[in-house]
Amino acid sequence: LRPQDLAGRRIAITAGGTREPLDPVRFLGNRSSGKQGVALAAAARDRGAHVTLIAAHLEVPVPAGVALVEVQTAQELAVAVADAAQVADAVVMAAAVADYRPETVADDKIKKDATGDVLELRLVKNPDILASLTNGTLTPKRLPGQVVIGFAAETETDDAALLAIASAKAVRKGVDFLVVNRVGWTEVFAADDTRVTLLDRAGSIVGDAVGDKMSVAHRILDLLV
Ligand code: C5P
Repeated sequence: LRPQDLAGRRIAITAGGTREPLDPVRFLGNRSSGKQGVALAAAARDRGAHVTLIAAHLEVPVPAGVALVEVQTAQELAVAVADAAQVADAVVMAAAVADYRPETVADDKIKKDATGDVLELRLVKNPDILASLTNGTLTPKRLPGQVVIGFAAETETDDAALLAIASAKAVRKGVDFLVVNRVGWTEVFAADDTRVTLLDRAGSIVGDAVGDKMSVAHRILDLLV
């Protein structure tokens, strides 16, 4: 049995990857499986929290005993986070959110006969949900003592370069903690095991965690507690 150190706490967790539609049948997406966010939701539940899981596309089952809010796009995720954050003691943003979306969504399937050999897409920037949560533009006001944890998935192979980027991101996003992992064609996203570095709000390293995503989830929750 886990310590009930999150008993009665409300935690909103985003998981998975957003999908930005191009037309009724196609989207721009990413390779997030949702495994880490789902593990966090299950771990927080096991420690007594009331969990709201805001799920973009997941490739794993939703754990029992959590409240589920399903979203597709970054804009839908923003609405769900704004809603959940108003009553949350902590918000954990594990979802991989599309930074850009197609400027227009075609009403009908885009036809190759009509578009020719080259199809140009125009993309517009999505809101940075995490940054707008911490700077107070997403919700009327951040709840006193609300802990906000962000994730950073970077592809730099050099440790120092990766940490420099992540450290700046921790400060820029205004998070209490940033969970940093290296991702690539084969690493992390669909994997069962992971390896993360944990940064504080100043961008300084507070620890590392290696192992299956459930044990890493518990390390992240230890920091949250
Ligand atoms: O800037 P970057 O995408 O690396 O930041 C990752 C963190 O920011 C994650 O916690 C992710 O959920 C969040 N994010 C967001 N809104 C975006 C892009 C990322 O909240 N538009």
